Amino acid sequence: MTDAAITVHTGARIDRIAPELHGHFAEHLGRCIYDGVRHDETADDEGFREDVFALLAALELPVLRWPGGCFADDYHWEDGVGPRAERPRRRNLFWAQGRRKLPEEPNAFGTDEFLRLCERLDAEPYLAVNVGSGDPQEAADWVEYCNYGGDTDLADRRRANGHEEPYGVRYWGLGNENWGCGGQMSPEQYAREYRRFATYVGTMDNLMVEEELELVACGFENHEWNRRFMAEVAESSWGVEFPLDHLTLHHYYGRGMSVAEADGDQYDRFLADALAMDDHVRRIAAAIDATASTRDVGVVVDEWGAWHTEARAESGLEQPGTVLDALAAAAVLDVFTRHSDVMTMANIAQTVNVLQCLVETDGDDAWARPTYHVFDLYAPHQGNEAVRTSVETPARSLADGDLPLVGASASTDDDGTYVTVTNLDCRDSRVVDLALAGRPVEDATAQVLFDGHDPDATVDADNADTFGPEELAVSADDGRLTVDLPPATAAAVSVR
Ligand code: AHR
Repeated sequence: MTDAAITVHTGARIDRIAPELHGHFAEHLGRCIYDGVRHDETADDEGFREDVFALLAALELPVLRWPGGCFADDYHWEDGVGPRAERPRRRNLFWAQGRRKLPEEPNAFGTDEFLRLCERLDAEPYLAVNVGSGDPQEAADWVEYCNYGGDTDLADRRRANGHEEPYGVRYWGLGNENWGCGGQMSPEQYAREYRRFATYVGTMDNLMVEEELELVACGFENHEWNRRFMAEVAESSWGVEFPLDHLTLHHYYGRGMSVAEADGDQYDRFLADALAMDDHVRRIAAAIDATASTRDVGVVVDEWGAWHTEARAESGLEQPGTVLDALAAAAVLDVFTRHSDVMTMANIAQTVNVLQCLVETDGDDAWARPTYHVFDLYAPHQGNEAVRTSVETPARSLADGDLPLVGASASTDDDGTYVTVTNLDCRDSRVVDLALAGRPVEDATAQVLFDGHDPDATVDADNADTFGPEELAVSADDGRLTVDLPPATAAAVSVR
């Protein structure tokens, strides 16, 4: 007897899954950059931590957002270029940083270091411009420094700093959370600022830079805010031709939950909160459609992930990495796949040591967290065509809604179909039936994550190698497949 049934409609195409939906975010916060990415003791000859770099390189990050976060709206990029010894030490208004956890920014890692890291990782860079305490000139200068190939002072400074050719940075975020730490703006106020910044940054596209710049505006989890922002920004004389390519929101979940103290009921609420991502994507897409169209303005979720009570500003937003968090990430990546017709990018927060990081370090050790393995398991979806799935699943009733216990998403390429499945039931196994609509399936291979681990299992340097994928048995009968998913697991089934 099966508990849930997944049908993959391979002929019902949603859209191409932008690889950027599996993107990342690194901020000058806690031990993300200093200690995580840059590390004096274990650095390679370019100053990057070798062990962290190797883990990130193996994951093949499609895109990396930087330098914040709240940090971005008080960051002045010129502080972080040129000879390191001459760079000023500044405040970090929002976060304690580095091993000593001081609210200070040494500027040892700046634009050229970040873009070099992206080059070496073959990741698309995504820069967040200072709208809160900066001005459009500073923003346009940054684009010129990074992307201009001609004969200006700023292009020459880049050359003098070691990069002859323009970097070709495509993604430019105009501010961060400008309804909050980025200036406490109303939607109308931010829309006016957005238009001003977009005029200068967007105009660089015409004569000065070869690649098409893609501008990202900040949205909010409050969708009324998004509607008002879109309406105001469209008021400009350019009508719907305004330079706005993406609208973003942030969704963190688990804010009131302590990793150390949570029980099974809280796990359910946490997972339901993660799945609220689905509703947010629908609603921000609707806010865009009210003025433009989600084909012209893509939905970006450039910060997302678990944020537990253990993560506090003064301790650099560090929290333990658990199986439960990783399971939520798998469910969220399924949401993104299902919305690949409107979504253009997403960036988990954050890459190293902060919040739901993928890589953690301690002294000279670095290891992959369970969430890292989820990204690895889901990577074959990147660039595939997402197709519709229907899932008949039992649900658990919660105080304010239901938690569907089994979830899935699917994609196809020339070689076959890739289905990812989660069992969000932290208590029981679920037997899941899988069929491709209109096509018998005889054979498939599958992998599972976290079998044998409790949902609250935390990772450290000593046990990190126990969270990787294992083979999962798949039985085929009468053209359908069956898998038995242990509690709190994520799996991938590959049908060729
Ligand atoms: O990722 C940590 C912080 O969360 C970011 O700086 C901010 O944008 C968000 O509130």
